[in-house]
Amino acid sequence: MKAMNAQDAEKLLNDLRAQITRHAHQYYVLDDPLISDGEYDQLFRELLDLEEQFPDLVTPDSPSLRVGGEPLAAFAEAEHAVPMLSLDNVFNAQELKDFEEKIQRYLQATTQPTYLAEPKLDGLAVELIYENGLLVQGSTRGNGLVGENITAQLRTVQSIPLRLIAQEEQEDVAIPEKLVVRGEVFLPRKGFLQLNEQRAEQGKALFANPRNAAAGSLRQLDPKVTASRPLRFYVYGVGDTEAIPCADLKELFSWLGHLGFPVNPLITFCSSLTEVEARYQHLQAIRHELEYEIDGMVIKVADFALQQRLGNTTRAPRWATAWKFPAIQATTIMTGVDFQVGRTGAITPVAILEPVAVEGVIVRRATLHNQDEIERKGLMIGDTVLIQRAGDVIPEIVKPITEQRNGEEQPIPFPSQCPVCTSPLQRLAGEAVTRCINLRCPAQQLQRMIYFVGKAGLDIDGFGKRNVEQLMEVGLIREIPDIFRLRKEELAVLDGWGEKSAEKLLLAIDKAKHPTLSRFIGALGIRYVGEMTSDLLTRHFSSLDALLAAEKEDLLAVEGIGEQAAMSLTEYFANSENRKMIQTLLELGLTIETAVQGNTENNPLEGAIFLFTGTLTQMSRNEAKQLVKDRGGRVVSGLSKKVTHLVAGEKAGSKLKKAQEMGVTVVDEQEFLEIVERE
Ligand code: IVH
Repeated sequence: MKAMNAQDAEKLLNDLRAQITRHAHQYYVLDDPLISDGEYDQLFRELLDLEEQFPDLVTPDSPSLRVGGEPLAAFAEAEHAVPMLSLDNVFNAQELKDFEEKIQRYLQATTQPTYLAEPKLDGLAVELIYENGLLVQGSTRGNGLVGENITAQLRTVQSIPLRLIAQEEQEDVAIPEKLVVRGEVFLPRKGFLQLNEQRAEQGKALFANPRNAAAGSLRQLDPKVTASRPLRFYVYGVGDTEAIPCADLKELFSWLGHLGFPVNPLITFCSSLTEVEARYQHLQAIRHELEYEIDGMVIKVADFALQQRLGNTTRAPRWATAWKFPAIQATTIMTGVDFQVGRTGAITPVAILEPVAVEGVIVRRATLHNQDEIERKGLMIGDTVLIQRAGDVIPEIVKPITEQRNGEEQPIPFPSQCPVCTSPLQRLAGEAVTRCINLRCPAQQLQRMIYFVGKAGLDIDGFGKRNVEQLMEVGLIREIPDIFRLRKEELAVLDGWGEKSAEKLLLAIDKAKHPTLSRFIGALGIRYVGEMTSDLLTRHFSSLDALLAAEKEDLLAVEGIGEQAAMSLTEYFANSENRKMIQTLLELGLTIETAVQGNTENNPLEGAIFLFTGTLTQMSRNEAKQLVKDRGGRVVSGLSKKVTHLVAGEKAGSKLKKAQEMGVTVVDEQEFLEIVERE
């Protein structure tokens, strides 16, 4: 290729930057990408290559700065021209009333202000300064007057604009000469969990919550580390309301949105305290469904003239307050530890707690993950512990309250033998998990069986954990093939069973006898081989025989299959007992449906993205998902604009409402069936 001259390069660079900035905004702020990830990566690579050839042409708003520059020696100080204040709190509806009465007294008026209700994000407050549309400084709150200059770190946060853009449909939005905005940087749950998993693997201390993780990620002298953390940002205010062309918060958020800032879509305006309260209840109800943690709601007087008149105390504005959600943490005593044996033999320590209510739910047990976790947290039996539960997530122990110890606490004895089959336990170097490696361990067999018939397995209707336990206990099933040997006479006479229930279960077993290859592989419960890996394998190997004949290298050649999964699969299929079991299943009449995949003729739903909410009446959710996947469509669990069909079953809740607000196509169960049957 002919070398480019600097003039052409500059032109091309400007063009690339404009394109990338636009697409990043579409993706990270509007959640509405216009090009594929691959095309975006391609543009980004071109930019990096060209900037490498012409380092003098790198500008302070170049998206390349998002990958993080050189490490700093120390953070410089950054002053806040207008102090960054804190918020006062209210704790109940009465105190909210008091808040309003105080406002009215102050204003010597009984008029009702309009309020803004906004999720209180559990992250870190930052200030961003823009000059002529360019991000020139970013800083932490610090003590409110002086914070730390973390500009390089904040530039790596994808949803923070490096340069303000006036949105197309609003060309009359002028870029202000100087703009100081404030908002919260936070780490979504998924990123938080992944980060902690990674740290656990590396033997590093875990972050106690997403807030600490966000703070720890931003206060990294090396911006490349910050860049590797999927931090997000929502704007919530400006430094000086007099300096901007808006009269209230409603105008402000619309204006900031047009300049390219991410504004939380859950912000609402309320014209009475009743509405504020309803909004609080609503946010509390949906908080666990959000991609990020919120710890309450912020209530602000919307009108700037009123805000001015109300002013601030030294600590906090009089025109705003925070209403926190009830704690999801509590303290209790850990009276003992149980060791459970899982499907793959993993030994999981589980804390036994004195029952305690958290958010209205009684918690009696909490997972302790593994031996390293116990040691890292320094837990002892008899400790008073801080526990936490969020939504449906399994309760966890955050830490022991060591100040409360009286000397009678006992260390936790980690077993050296399987608590169920007594065979010696094994822990491989580099792994956090201790395992029972006896494949015939009754505990493992039970868990494998539960998995095989359960949702992630063949999904046999009505065949739950209790049934498996009972049938294993009375000896009707010992190993997986026994499921297909069950007879009505044996079942009907069992405790709690009758002819009808026996028939029903047998019918359901019969119905599940013809799984797709992907479902069948998934049902085996092979380590590191979940739904996604099973799908990948199915796309590559057209039959079970082909998969069984595959060597490790063949498996590694499948895109998306890594060393661990390949190893685990090879080991599984090399074991003669596993092969025998599969053979027996086939002899008992199990057949595997191998749908031809990979061309659009057979993938009519290629490109379609489905999300399910509510209860389906004519099929299970897993069946519905399978219908989509068999037709080449994708199923996701989170709502975004990328979703092409939201399937709303009965009692669909907040997702449905949000989807309607976002303009996502919503179909009911009947319409869904018509789509998959037609296609
Ligand atoms: S407004 C002067 N809005 O809460 C008003 N703060 O407890 C400044 N926070 O330091 C704050 N979400 O870090 C506001 N939607 C939101 C917020 C929010 C989280 C944090 C912020 C602030 C702290 C005060």
